[in-house]
Amino acid sequence: MAFGRNVPADRRESAVAGVFTRVAGGYDRLNRILSLGLDVAWRRSALSRLERACGGGPGGILDLATGTADFAIEAARRFHAASVTGIDLTPAMLDIGRRKVADAGLSGRISLQEGSATALPFGERSFDAVLCAFGFRNFPDIPASLAEAARILRDGGRLVVLEFFRPRSALLGAFTAGWLRCLSALFAPRVADDYAYLRSSIANTCSAEEFVAMAREIGLAAERKEIFLPACSCLILRKCGKM
Ligand SMILES: C[S@@+](CC[C@H](N)C(=O)[O-])C[C@H]1O[C@@H](n2cnc3c(N)ncnc32)[C@H](O)[C@@H]1O
Repeated sequence: MAFGRNVPADRRESAVAGVFTRVAGGYDRLNRILSLGLDVAWRRSALSRLERACGGGPGGILDLATGTADFAIEAARRFHAASVTGIDLTPAMLDIGRRKVADAGLSGRISLQEGSATALPFGERSFDAVLCAFGFRNFPDIPASLAEAARILRDGGRLVVLEFFRPRSALLGAFTAGWLRCLSALFAPRVADDYAYLRSSIANTCSAEEFVAMAREIGLAAERKEIFLPACSCLILRKCGKM
């Protein structure tokens, strides 16, 4: 399997980009169906928590694994003075994102570019906040991507993560997998294999606790951890001091 942990990072990245290229056209619609529309509320709630944590709006924001740019658009709407950059591995996702940014009249404040979370093309301490929704479990090397996020954050900046980490309870894991299998078979039968990858990526990633421990090693301290029901983790991590 090109997704296995023993496969070199560049081959895993190109396999993952293949999945997102094939699902891009139906991605937003299926996201809304699979989450019953909750993914929109989760992104908004995460930004409210970021605003409270920062005591105001951050100026420079990076949306890591921006995909079709939902988080970037939501951030630009909430923080009127912010400039937002989105980066993603998959050009097909970015193409849809660019159309949505233009339709929202936000092309002057959001720029989207292609790139990998394991080698971000930005200088040290260039952003006040990094957002990442449902990206980390796809990255070939989570500690390396966390280190990159920490490198480009200014001291005291925040990393906001929304993710389906590996569930603690086997029952919740089985329920989530069954839910995704049934709905994706019903609404996206042509890309059933790709949704099988997305399902397995939840079972095969780290737990939220393991993620927080990896982040701490890298100098990102968890400030807030919660579960948005039924199973989405929201983490706010703060970059500590000089690194
Ligand atoms: C599940 S989608 C999430 C998109 C978006 N953040 C959202 O909230 O809907 C995951 C995204 O991660 C991107 N991705 C996967 N591996 C990546 C990597 N190594 N570097 C950058 N982006 C990556 C994929 O191309 C895809 O657009």
